[in-house]
Amino acid sequence: TDKYCVIGHPIAHSKSPGIHAAFAHATGQDLNYERCLAPLDGFAATVQRLVHEGYKGANVTVPFKIEAAQLATRLNERARAAGAVNTLVFADGEIVGDNTDGPGLVADITRNAGVPLKDKRVLLLGAGGAARGVLLPFLQEGPREIVIANRTLATAQALARDFGAYGIPVSATGFAGITGSFDIVVNATSASLSSDLPPIPASVFCPSTLALDMMYGNKPTVFMEFAASQGAATRDGLGMLVEQAAEAFALWRGVRPDTADVLNQMRP
Ligand code: ATR
Repeated sequence: TDKYCVIGHPIAHSKSPGIHAAFAHATGQDLNYERCLAPLDGFAATVQRLVHEGYKGANVTVPFKIEAAQLATRLNERARAAGAVNTLVFADGEIVGDNTDGPGLVADITRNAGVPLKDKRVLLLGAGGAARGVLLPFLQEGPREIVIANRTLATAQALARDFGAYGIPVSATGFAGITGSFDIVVNATSASLSSDLPPIPASVFCPSTLALDMMYGNKPTVFMEFAASQGAATRDGLGMLVEQAAEAFALWRGVRPDTADVLNQMRP
């Protein structure tokens, strides 16, 4: 039985073991996936132990995603662009780093919500690790434009510069400077964690807008409630969570599990 785990700190509340167990059952794959608590100063040592114990791979979550990118002996393009790693593959003495968060979000938007990114106006709120992680996968879908809005303008400007060479307009603004309405609005800030709402104009939303918060919980976030009050369709980050897991599973096992059943089971 091949062994995998998710490494984080804290880790007790991770939903990943349940998701991967469901995928393994559905695809008939023989694997074991558990939680792994790494000490805050012991991520590298934990990974070395897992490799030594014959694990085939691991997911990486808060707060180790950037450290995982530094530790990997090889990074693929999307992990390099993200500057962070959420999936490790242990093979042939290498520690290969990938990032399936962005592809997972793209899959949730395009397949589960049924909204293609092609030719769309996209507003990305936030300019931290979560925002950086989705930019390359978004750009590869061919949107018309991406506007990055952040509380700290300079961070958004740096991100817009980093991702400005893909032939698609990427611009930066503060929240108050956002103009017009958008087809897709993604909240990649961590504001929802503290029940804060990024102070964006209500006019960014219209009835055809898809508003997605990367966070999830037992109830809609303040961002989702605000978007819904303006008539937009809303989604939380649960679909992204399940889809990034499916992408990691596919990397490890060569088969991409169907996500619909797992996602339905997790919805209250
Ligand atoms: P993550 O890995 O979740 O992206 P991060 O890299 O610390 O975490 O980035 C957090 C993002 O949420 C940043 O864009 C941050 O804005 P600043 O760059 O101005 O700090 C944003 N953020 C956090 N709390 C916020 C709040 N209360 N309102 C608006 N934006 C917030």
